[in-house]
Amino acid sequence: MADATSYEELGLANTKEMFQKAMDGGYAIPAYNFNNMEQLQGIILGCVQSNSPVILQVSGSARKYANPKMLRFMAAGAVQMARAEGSEIPIALHLDHGDSFELAKSCIDSGFSSVMLDGSHHPFEENARITRQVVDYAHEKGVTVEGELGVLAGVEDEVSHEVSHYTKPEEVEEFVAKTGVDSLAISIGTSHGAYKFKVGPGEEVPPLRFDILDEIEKRVPGFPIVLHGASAVIPRYIEMINRYGGKMDDAVGIPEEQLRKAAASAVCKINIDSDGRLAMTAVIRQIFAENPAEFDPRKYLGPARDELIEMVKQKNENVLGSAGKA
Ligand code: G3H
Ligand code: 13P
Ligand code: ZN
Repeated sequence: MADATSYEELGLANTKEMFQKAMDGGYAIPAYNFNNMEQLQGIILGCVQSNSPVILQVSGSARKYANPKMLRFMAAGAVQMARAEGSEIPIALHLDHGDSFELAKSCIDSGFSSVMLDGSHHPFEENARITRQVVDYAHEKGVTVEGELGVLAGVEDEVSHEVSHYTKPEEVEEFVAKTGVDSLAISIGTSHGAYKFKVGPGEEVPPLRFDILDEIEKRVPGFPIVLHGASAVIPRYIEMINRYGGKMDDAVGIPEEQLRKAAASAVCKINIDSDGRLAMTAVIRQIFAENPAEFDPRKYLGPARDELIEMVKQKNENVLGSAGKA
């Protein structure tokens, strides 16, 4: 295969049609992060079995981890695997939190169908300038682009922020017009990772700022919005991790009810990484605790993959509403 590859050659789809259908249908497309083969298989099989469109996403560091040369063959393999299962679900390969034009270009040239340029830590004009540069290159090749306005607390790849800054609705129209992005990630109270809120005893998790989302929808009607940091931090997995030797006492995520509400709105893409990590870790910890002599990776990665399949199906069916929509 030539060094430069188009996403069509790999059997991938961009996000345009996926988002249009999600907007019309009042559901959200799942965007699951992966770094390795078992995660990729788990995500694909979960989406095949629930007949859901899917965005496979990798951060810059995940791409390095998997190896950029290998990654596109993994994505092509994932498409082949879905087709061999008799499924025609649309599959996108997306760069998550791209931090430079060079990285976005390299991904586009190696077969990504969608890229994010996250310039949210830059001042508005600089963010718009780099994002526009990526859009110009990407659109020539049919690749879709996600931008970001507003800052999420937590770790965004190598960039980490102590506090979040909500998206300013009055900036959204100008940003979308200036950059030509296909979708926009916003900050309304989610954050990355497994520790999203500090909740004291008897306290509730603070609700997401749906008032900001409503205001954004009014300013750019019908425009696809993306929600990052949207893991529920599923309590069952936290309990299992803690029971089998882990230590994640204060982990807390976004209540599923709020994610359902977001999925029914202009939010067309919901990003989930931490929940997949927790599902696999919980199962691996249980197996190691109960079978200390086990050392065949298939015996712990296999069940971890099976758990991920179930988690993905559950999300698609009961939270995002994407099941049956492929
Ligand atoms: O938003 C960040 C994602 O969860 C990716 O995390 O940089 O550790 O791959 P990562
Ligand atoms: P979580 O850490 O909540 O899974 O968020 C993932 C994400 O936003 C990836 O871009
Ligand atoms: Zn993110």
